[in-house]
Amino acid sequence: MTDMDKGFQLMPDQASTVAGPVDGLYFFLCAVSAFFTVLIAALIIYFAIKYRRRSEHEPPPPKTRTDYRLELTWTFVPLAIVMVMFWWGASLYYREYRPPQNTLDIDVIGKQWMWMVQHRSTGRREINELHVPVGRPVKLLMASQDVIHSFYIPAFRVKQDVIPGRYMTLWFEPTRVGEYHLFCTEYCGNQHSGMIGRVVVMEPAKYEAWLAGTTVDEPPAIAGERLFNHFGCATCHGQRGPTLANVYGQPRPLADGASVVADEAYLRESILYSTEKIVQGFQPIMPSYRGQMSEEQLMQIVAYIKSLAAPVPAREVRPAYE
Ligand code: CUA
Repeated sequence: MTDMDKGFQLMPDQASTVAGPVDGLYFFLCAVSAFFTVLIAALIIYFAIKYRRRSEHEPPPPKTRTDYRLELTWTFVPLAIVMVMFWWGASLYYREYRPPQNTLDIDVIGKQWMWMVQHRSTGRREINELHVPVGRPVKLLMASQDVIHSFYIPAFRVKQDVIPGRYMTLWFEPTRVGEYHLFCTEYCGNQHSGMIGRVVVMEPAKYEAWLAGTTVDEPPAIAGERLFNHFGCATCHGQRGPTLANVYGQPRPLADGASVVADEAYLRESILYSTEKIVQGFQPIMPSYRGQMSEEQLMQIVAYIKSLAAPVPAREVRPAYE
């Protein structure tokens, strides 16, 4: 059971070295706020009742003299508490935003609407997924191709805006093997809510094997489904975009008035030359995957799209990540 399939949780899993300390500070702030909220509200009610005006003819109360001990107490006690908050928060901030030496460095590019990741050692790429080894500090070097995005992994308690025109960095050290949510948390256009993915924390040996690109034997349609998610296709072709269920083998009306049958060749061409033959009613916004997919991967994805056209029972296109 990982963070990904637990449904609603009050707090995300704690899966990095800073997650525990961040939560500690968070609960301290909540406890202080709750304590003073209750205390002040109770005192307001108590004094309002105790010193209420009892009749129309009651004389006003006598003037009170300032008690400096009281003034000093409610000045310095809150000051001490907020100074604790300041030191605690600032030291945690420095820890979270100053990467240690010897990090594993990974490149990340945000663009509408996907996260593109490349691992430096082997050049392996992934989209809307981030594979990392457990127990090792990881530093992301991040850039944006278009607008501001924000890279957020709740289980790690880290978040960093990615601003066009400059490099941003983010580091973390995962402490638990598992799969965790990855979100874009800066509104970046009409598919912003689809700019989601997952972080896969693996044992170091498994990570090395993954980096080397070792794959297991599986039917092409199954491999294709994995690639469909891996390359971020499901971001747009999931529930809300042009769905790919029952597309294979059907005639497709094109924007220029022509019509083509969605066979294997058409599907392959649409992935590689994505802005060439646009189906009526859609914009040419899909990125080209030329040079990013091998012919083998293309065949697997086409096999997956074919499998979506199975007559009965119709299979739904699953959203990328749940
Ligand atoms: Cu990218 Cu929101």
